[in-house]
Formats: sequence, C-alpha cells, structure tokens
Amino acid sequence: KVYTDYFFDEPAYNTHDGGFVPLEEPKTPQQKLKVPELLEPDRETDTDMYYTVIAQTGEVQLLPGEKTKTWGYNTNLLGKTILFKKGKMIHITLKNELPELTTFHWHGLNVPGPVTDGGCHAPVYPGKSTQIEFKCDQPAATLWLHAHPCPSTAQHVWKGLATAVVVKDDTEAKLPFPRNYGVDDIPLILQDRRFHEDNQWDYMADYDPDGVQGPTPMINGTINPYFDVTTQKLRLRILDGANRREWRLHFSDDLKFTQIASDGGTLPEPVDFTHLMLTCAERAEIIVDFGNYQPGDVVTLFCDDVPIVHFRIHAFKRDDRQLPDHLADIPDPDVTPDAPVHKVVMSGMDEEVEMNGKKFDMQRIDDKQKLGNVEYWDVSNTNDMSNGMVHPYHMHGTQFRVISRNGHAPYPNENGLKDTVGVNPGETVRLKVWFDHLGVYMNHCHIIEHEDGGMMAQFEVYDPDHPKTYKLMDMDTL
Ligand code: C2O
Ligand code: CU
Ligand code: CU
Repeated sequence: KVYTDYFFDEPAYNTHDGGFVPLEEPKTPQQKLKVPELLEPDRETDTDMYYTVIAQTGEVQLLPGEKTKTWGYNTNLLGKTILFKKGKMIHITLKNELPELTTFHWHGLNVPGPVTDGGCHAPVYPGKSTQIEFKCDQPAATLWLHAHPCPSTAQHVWKGLATAVVVKDDTEAKLPFPRNYGVDDIPLILQDRRFHEDNQWDYMADYDPDGVQGPTPMINGTINPYFDVTTQKLRLRILDGANRREWRLHFSDDLKFTQIASDGGTLPEPVDFTHLMLTCAERAEIIVDFGNYQPGDVVTLFCDDVPIVHFRIHAFKRDDRQLPDHLADIPDPDVTPDAPVHKVVMSGMDEEVEMNGKKFDMQRIDDKQKLGNVEYWDVSNTNDMSNGMVHPYHMHGTQFRVISRNGHAPYPNENGLKDTVGVNPGETVRLKVWFDHLGVYMNHCHIIEHEDGGMMAQFEVYDPDHPKTYKLMDMDTL
C-alpha cells in the first residue's frame, strides 16, 4: 500500500493562517547542499565517547553580497552532526562562546532532567562551560540538539542553534539501509528564513506570536540547494527544524518513497508514501529509490508546490535489495494498573496560548509520574477546526507510543517511538509514556513561539523511596 495523503486535517494546515508566509522559490543560483560534517570526538574508547560542543557566532555566505550573521554549534550555522553509539558513556563539554546565556537541549534523548536534558534550568553563561555525562541507552535514531533558554528558545534556534544527533546501534546496523554518511545517508534540516537589508536576519522584525516564518527555504543552511545523487538509494534523515512551518513533502513525478524511522528510531515496518507532512521538531527517515532515473535527470523535492531540493542524478550501481516486511521490535510495555491518566490541554493562539489553562512557570511543577510506571497521557488541542492550528506536542526525557487519535488508530507512520506528535484542532491524542530516568522535564507545543509564549508545562519523574529536590531557575535568576 502506498499512502498518498498527508493525514493531518486540511482545514488546520498553516496555509489557512492569516499570518501564513508562503515559501518562494529562491531566485539565486542553485548551490551544492551543505552536508554537515560529523563532529570529531575528542577521544573515544571501547566504552566512552568524549565531545566538546561549542555554541558560537559566525557568518555565512548564504546569498550573493553580504554574509549573514549566524550562530551554530562548532561551526558558523547549525552544527556538525553528533554521533552517539548505544551502550557507551558519553561525556560532553558544553561551551558557550555567545554573547548571552544559552542551554544545550538534547531533543529526544532519554537522559536525566533537568540539567543533562538541557532545558531552561541548565543555563551555560557566556564565556563559561559545563560538563555533562550520560549513558547512551536507546535505539538508533535521528535526534537533535537545540538551544532552550526560556523564553528565547525561538530566537536562538532562528539564529542557527540546531543540529542533528545520530544514535547508532547493532540492530539498525544489520538492516539493509544506506548508511554511508554524506554519500547516501544525509540529514535534511528544513527551515525557512526572511532576509532583510544586507542579507541579515531580524527576528524581532519578523516576530509573530504564532510562529516566525520566512519565505526562503533554507535546507541544511543552504539556499536553493542541489544534491549529487551517486547511489540508487538515498536515505534522508529529515528534521522539521523550523520555528513554525509545516512541511508537506513530495517529489516530482509523485515518486514513491519509504519511511523507515520516526523520531525515536526504526519503525516496526516500512511505510510507503508519495506525500508526507512533518510538524515542528518531528523527524522522518526515508529511503528514496532513484532506480528508474538516468544520469542527467533531476528529481525535485517540493514543499506544497515550491521546490526545496534538486536531486541531480549521476551514474550509480544498481541496488535492488528489498526491505524486510518487519524492521524492528518496538517496546510496548503494559500500562501500570491503577495509574492515573494524565491530561494535557493545549489551548489558544497568539498571545493567548496556554497549557492546562496556565502559562508556563519555571518554578511550578505541573504533573508527576512515578519512575518505572507506564502511564497514559491524553493530549488535547481545543482550537476550532475552522481557525485553529495543529500543535506539535513534545515531551522531554522520553520516547513514547502514540495509541490513538480521538479513539481511532494513529497514522500509519506513528507505530514506532516518537517524542513529538502533531495534534489536530478538536483532537485528543492518547500517548503511552514511560521514563528511564528521574528528573524535572518540560512538555510543550514545539511551535517555538508557542513554547516561549507559555504553551509549556513541566513534570517530575520521581521515585517515592528516594525523593529529590531540584534547583529550579526562575526568569529573575537568569
Ligand atoms: Cu525540542 Cu523542549 O524541545
Ligand atoms: Cu525536547
Ligand atoms: Cu502550538
């Protein structure tokens, strides 16, 4: 079966927003797609990996003329791709070379909160560095690192603080997936920007409480990119790294592609599509098969009807290996008997956004879950279908299962592990959630201006036999 629709509710697409900024095809010449380099570990042993991650300022030639001032991790814009091997202890020095405080949030990583997780309670001040360490103990997946200082997460990400994180393990290594990084396995970070005078970005000038957008697609920090395809099959690790934009993706000729992984790793079975919609912070790994094309052909990836990447086909060796019907076993623990069902309500738009009828407060813990329990979280979006929007709901510190949407089966590509799920207006999505670590974590809408605007809460994962207290920052101590 090949799915040909975007699943989400069409009346709630961002294209119907009053403030929607349509993408425009850049008029500047095509440029080679930047594929982020892999970050070199400072040191690696059989059991440990050591990294230094630096948040820094820079400038990049994005358009002809002036360079654009940007921020990035270990590079001028976005970052190098960070590789973790499952089972190893990871030691990271986090260095802040920016003129203001930032945090380093590992989106999708199962690590203790709130400090290792890197949300708003883990500031690294300008000119300072801190250390974190954790065991990488989750399946192979495409995760990401982004800044998370409240309430300026959106601005930091807009300036460029976002990069891909790849977890590898032995199970994924046995599957017939492309995995030659940079050749047939590449991240594809989808963002949009508006260029102002002298090719600069101006977050405040573009500010919109429902999410900042720009008309120019920026893919891996490249404007109007092409990619040279030299293999029949190409694996794209797609991340919606935009502040607000939904990406409705399809290729020229309605070329079919196969999703093999969602946010938290490999899907139980491959899912074939011609069209795929991602909401903010969601990831999809897909394999595209160019077997029916000839050298010299170009296959274009579109968002709605705007071209965003041009794949230039070169000679390749044939690779007609088939994917197995079953890719991976997905953990599906039983819900703990008598556990409470958590309720999360995302409401409002613009400045009125709230979670559970409240604005975010760094000092308030809104919910609790016992470590070891498996519990349902029912997440609702109370917007109206006629003028509401899809809110991408994200939880820190876990990979969850999507159980149902208004009592119906989740979308066919939601049967693996996820950390972000788009919730339609009028919908309640039931999640099954469990944690591996203690801590205070955040849950929020991943339209980043909604998160900064207060559509965010926090919860504690606790152990009744070992109660802990946490040092929670507040806006004034920051
Ligand atoms: Cu992607 Cu609270 O974060
Ligand atoms: Cu996160
Ligand atoms: Cu939202």
